[in-house]
Amino acid sequence: MTNTCGPAAHPFPDLPAGFRLGAATAAYQIEGAHDQDGRGPSIWDTFSHTPGRTLGGDTGDTACDHYHRYSEDVALLRELGVDSYRFSLAWPRLLPQGTGPVNRKGLDFYDRLIDELLAAGVAPAVTLYHWDLPQALEDRGGWRVRETAEAFAAYTALAAERYGDRVERWITLNEPYCSAFVGYAEGRHAPGAEEGRGALAAAHHLLVGHGLAVRELRAAGAREVGITLNLDRIHTASALPEDRAALRRAEVLHNEVWTEPLLAGRYPAHEAETWAGLADGPWRLPGDLELIGAPLDFLGVNFYRPITVADAPHRTDDPELRTAVDIGLTELNPYRTRHTTMGWPVVPEALTELLCGLHARYPHLPPVWITENGCAELDPVGPDGVVHDAKRIDYLADHLTAVTDAIAAGVDIRGYYVWSLLDNYEWARGYSQRFGLVHIDQDTLTRTPKDSYHWYRGLITAHRART
Ligand code: NOJ
Repeated sequence: MTNTCGPAAHPFPDLPAGFRLGAATAAYQIEGAHDQDGRGPSIWDTFSHTPGRTLGGDTGDTACDHYHRYSEDVALLRELGVDSYRFSLAWPRLLPQGTGPVNRKGLDFYDRLIDELLAAGVAPAVTLYHWDLPQALEDRGGWRVRETAEAFAAYTALAAERYGDRVERWITLNEPYCSAFVGYAEGRHAPGAEEGRGALAAAHHLLVGHGLAVRELRAAGAREVGITLNLDRIHTASALPEDRAALRRAEVLHNEVWTEPLLAGRYPAHEAETWAGLADGPWRLPGDLELIGAPLDFLGVNFYRPITVADAPHRTDDPELRTAVDIGLTELNPYRTRHTTMGWPVVPEALTELLCGLHARYPHLPPVWITENGCAELDPVGPDGVVHDAKRIDYLADHLTAVTDAIAAGVDIRGYYVWSLLDNYEWARGYSQRFGLVHIDQDTLTRTPKDSYHWYRGLITAHRART
């Protein structure tokens, strides 16, 4: 396609027929209403209310107030023309204690949301766990203990039974790397634990929880079942043997901890060397690999930027560049490209390389969905009421082109979700980062579609007309 569109006139990427385009959000980042209609507290409520944990003490108490304004947000999705919307269910809204009594008002909220989406012609894609673990479960050990995986299975069964007739696509976990390693090793995310290698128990129980959830979803007749991983394209700082060895360790920690059991039915080969055998912990039970490795209908991949690693002597004090688990390496940032306000380098070809690498490594790779991709920029609403976010349009166009390059190279990729529909609560960075196609005024909660929203709508219209 050579046509252009919108204020920033950027060529549309040439997407294959049938390729699906959507937008994504997550419950804690947009819903607000943290203590309303029976919702229980989650680890993110506790964490964000603890002084010093988040930038400026920002919390998700109100966020985008989507809980009350969801109709307006569904109208934005309808107008955008996406055929799928990825959102997450707040576990503590359905089961305030994580297990036990069900909160009817919470169940009703997602009924209303799903029905409005369907009426707007938007297919719901549900993430079951986007980091908001009920605090009551954390108090009993959180993901360190197997009981949490079992509770997750029961919560999944409840959701599948209630919404299974209307949900097109189910994602069990979002970025378990962050839940396990950023939450239980680095402590930069809830629950804020710094247990280093101890976080491996959390990683394993997240995978077990995924396996149990897949079983529940299959039993309920779910149509499309998958998981979302934040896989990394990792470069080595140099060709020195020690840096290459650091690269291998990083590939295990970032990617293979997840992809090997999920996609190949085995634990990562290098783990004994990587963690001095600690990964072979008592939390592993016979049968776990079969459970975790059950076939998936799709793999969700979230991608934002590549990383570079070097052997330990390059150690840094910058928390952004420290790896979650101390495996004797550090991250560097040698990229001389544009950086987003997250400080992340913009390197679209790294997405093509990541996808092609996955395809080469895993012969039974299921179809891939890009479940998140987007960029943070601070463009304000101008006096004319318009948000000119040309850099976001460039980012999205270039990454979609990177996806088409991977498709041309033989990778089966079915769709793409922009992160995010709305500017929202960016976890420990609070409201300082804006990823949305739609600007949110944090004082008035007014929604203003940005230029990128209009560009994406033009892309969707052109894609539909052509295919
Ligand atoms: C991935 C996470 O899933 C999402 O919640 C977050 O906002 C984006 N990355 C951007 O950091």
